[in-house]
Amino acid sequence: MFYELATPTWGPEEREAISRSVGSGRTTMGEEVAAFEAAFAAYHGKRYAVMVNSGSSANLIAIASLFYRRERPLQRGDEVLVPAISWATTYHPLHQYGLKLRILDVELGTLNMDVSLLERALTPRTRALVAVSILGNPAALDILSSFCTRHGLYLIEDNCESLDGELNGRKTGTYGDIATFSLFFSHHISTGEGGVVLTDDEEENQLLRSLRAHGWTRDLTPSSPLFEPREDDCVESYRFILPGYNVRPMELQGAIGLVQLKKLAAFTAQRRQNMACFQRLFQSDERFIIQRENGRSSSFAFTIVLNPAAGHQRARVTAALKRANIGYRMITGGCILRHDVIRHYDYTTVGEIKNGLIAHDHGFFVGNAPIDLKPQIERLREVMDDACR
Ligand SMILES: Cc1ncc(COP(=O)(O)O)c(C=O)c1O
Repeated sequence: MFYELATPTWGPEEREAISRSVGSGRTTMGEEVAAFEAAFAAYHGKRYAVMVNSGSSANLIAIASLFYRRERPLQRGDEVLVPAISWATTYHPLHQYGLKLRILDVELGTLNMDVSLLERALTPRTRALVAVSILGNPAALDILSSFCTRHGLYLIEDNCESLDGELNGRKTGTYGDIATFSLFFSHHISTGEGGVVLTDDEEENQLLRSLRAHGWTRDLTPSSPLFEPREDDCVESYRFILPGYNVRPMELQGAIGLVQLKKLAAFTAQRRQNMACFQRLFQSDERFIIQRENGRSSSFAFTIVLNPAAGHQRARVTAALKRANIGYRMITGGCILRHDVIRHYDYTTVGEIKNGLIAHDHGFFVGNAPIDLKPQIERLREVMDDACR
């Protein structure tokens, strides 16, 4: 393909890490994963990182953990504020844990939650908010964070698309009580599949470690607030305290993650350089609405929403992209209201969802990657001009 959605980023260093890890004989999480977790937490200035096998698993155990806190646990029937655009597995764990979704529209510019709707969205049952920074672009995390503090809500950051974004000099993923990341192939750094949960809270850290591995105590510290260790090691080695999962990462993924993390700053710099090229070519064209940066985007991808006022058909544009060998996808997965799964959710919307549906029906993204994409972006511009005459 001339312009790929994503590009592999593993080089000789990753291959060396893979063979070292395979050669160690340790398959499931061990020292490499622990070292990756420490490095990932330090990169964000946070106390704890818990690595799992995907961003979706990170979301699952993040939500689950909030149900087992000693104080102010979430309860079935509680309401959670969510944006109209995100990935499906932002929402699924909320449904699976019996939470009610309060869906807020997004801004057409940033594609992130419209914070002007927050006060209206609040009800006596509201207990949490999931902030999603779309495709590298920081959500209004400063505003969301103070809103949550003011109203005693948990702030969960689904930062799966926005590793290394920054707002007010602070990394995305550091505003939430808890934040999740994806290390899937196309993401800012990749361990093939993989995910991370970040938190500063010791109880939360222990809950996540138990939920990640069967709900057992084995990976917890003896001083854990979750249980009292007993003398009998036979009993202790298979001791289950929570209804957990097995979403452990492989040791291999930790080893690759360590190498990738060292490359992250350079990857982001190249992505931002590509973004500057994209912005230069597209930003003052009324036919196209491109993502407005909030803070510093780590630029996962480039979004284009065809301005409905200009009347161009997306199908015509995507056919032209296909002919030109340019990959494209729905923005993040589109608006959740347009997906069949919505019939399973218990949800309400905060007023009309307008922008989320416009982005779903008229938008798409093309890839960004840590390589020079100037020729690809220039070709995209020509194809778009041709298709939207
Ligand atoms: C916002 C968001 N949350 C969660 C996920 C799930 O991550 P994974 O594919 O690693 O399961 C994604 C995937 O891209 C995502 O974009």
